[in-house]
Amino acid sequence: MIDSTTQLYGLIGNPVLGSRSPWIHNHVFNTCGIPGVYLAFNVASNRIGEAVSGLKALEIKGFNVTMPYKSDIIPLLDGIDPIAKQMGAVNTVVCKDGQLYGHNTDGPGLIAVLRRHVPELEQKKILVLGAGGASRGICGTLSSIKGVTLGIWNRSLDKAVQLAAELNHGKSEGCTVSAVSSENCFSEYDVVINTTSVGMVPDTECTPIDIMLLKQGAVVCDIVYKPHLTLLLREAIHAGHPVIYGIEMLIEQALLAQKLWNNLKDDQIFEIRVALMKEFEGFHN
Ligand code: ATR
Repeated sequence: MIDSTTQLYGLIGNPVLGSRSPWIHNHVFNTCGIPGVYLAFNVASNRIGEAVSGLKALEIKGFNVTMPYKSDIIPLLDGIDPIAKQMGAVNTVVCKDGQLYGHNTDGPGLIAVLRRHVPELEQKKILVLGAGGASRGICGTLSSIKGVTLGIWNRSLDKAVQLAAELNHGKSEGCTVSAVSSENCFSEYDVVINTTSVGMVPDTECTPIDIMLLKQGAVVCDIVYKPHLTLLLREAIHAGHPVIYGIEMLIEQALLAQKLWNNLKDDQIFEIRVALMKEFEGFHN
């Protein structure tokens, strides 16, 4: 029930229409009895400063930040957590005592999901498809795992080469990063993560790679969650690969944000994750 004690939470980005975040967070409020409401706000690029000042003045309890503002938000904050600072991207803001603190739950969320599906992650070879904005965040996170071998493949090879060079230069102690120039190398990898938009609605009958090039048993993960079952994942399941759905990563970063805002306990998070996954699969299969 919404009343005068209800606190505001939200999402800022552009576009935000179609975002699943309101569905996830309002589900958390309802199941946990938290007096909150979460709304999505589409913010024009020349009004991001005004929007953030407004949210601060209203003492919003917390908000998420999505494309294209994950870096732009940083100078508008009062403080930033070290992981978010290192990634150069904030997706979650906590408002406490009138001050805004930035965090990044995308990276820790991705690692938590991978650890659930991939035993001994530290010893694995991970292939990331794509070298755009989403890939940048994911590769930055993966390159922080000591022992991992990271390959980046992109339609335009020069962007993969550049991203690999940046990661090798800056942040990747103990992790080897290289650009993958030939599809013949795909069979060397234990985990494959699609960060391109290939397969997303409305072009759902596209897939970024030929599934037959992968190693038998390689884990296939797609960050695309519209549709839930992308052609890449359909083909992977058909060929006997374990798969990770994009919605699982979206849910994980959201639950980590709720942990920051409302101190959710691990057993609550476990139950909510299971319920949300079931509900989502119910809608979309
Ligand atoms: P995002 O922020 O969602 O990552 P982006 O920065 O525009 O968006 O990056 C899109 C990624 O998807 C890029 O790696 C892009 O490849 P290019 O760098 O060669 O453009 C990739 N991509 C988009 N459409 C593609 C397609 N049809 N086939 C293969 N890769 C594609």
